[in-house]
Amino acid sequence: MMKLSDAEIDRLVEAAGAVRRRAHAPYSNFAVGSAVLDGDGQIHRGCNVENASYGLSVCAERHAVAAAVAAGAKQLIAVAVVTDTSPPTSPCGACRQVLREFGNVQVILANLQGDRTMTSIAELLPDAFGPEVLAQRGE
Ligand code: THU
Repeated sequence: MMKLSDAEIDRLVEAAGAVRRRAHAPYSNFAVGSAVLDGDGQIHRGCNVENASYGLSVCAERHAVAAAVAAGAKQLIAVAVVTDTSPPTSPCGACRQVLREFGNVQVILANLQGDRTMTSIAELLPDAFGPEVLAQRGE
């Protein structure tokens, strides 16, 4: 796994913290910001967007992944997630699976107090179902 520099981590956490302020979370009041670093060093952002039909709400991480793919990113290196919680919040199960599609993405959990936890999708989602499993089918 590529080791991220402190500057890259700072840049990613700052981007996630900034986009968090744009979250549309009037129902939960739980604003989340996420930023993805792609293989070309570009950063893509997403925040959670809730809906009056609650089940349609989408997490920040999945919006950041969609923004990265829409911008042409082929490889996802790392994702930062920023919340106002102590300790920092870890991605939900659905977002772990969506991130896993792109391999063992590095994950930085951060909060507004400056706490940071480094982890990875392999740690957060062991024994995952991923694209390589489809290649193992018998027919
Ligand atoms: N949420 C995220 O954006 N990311 C997560 O990993 C966990 C939860 C959002 C969904 C919803 O808008 C709010 O946080 C409360 O669940």
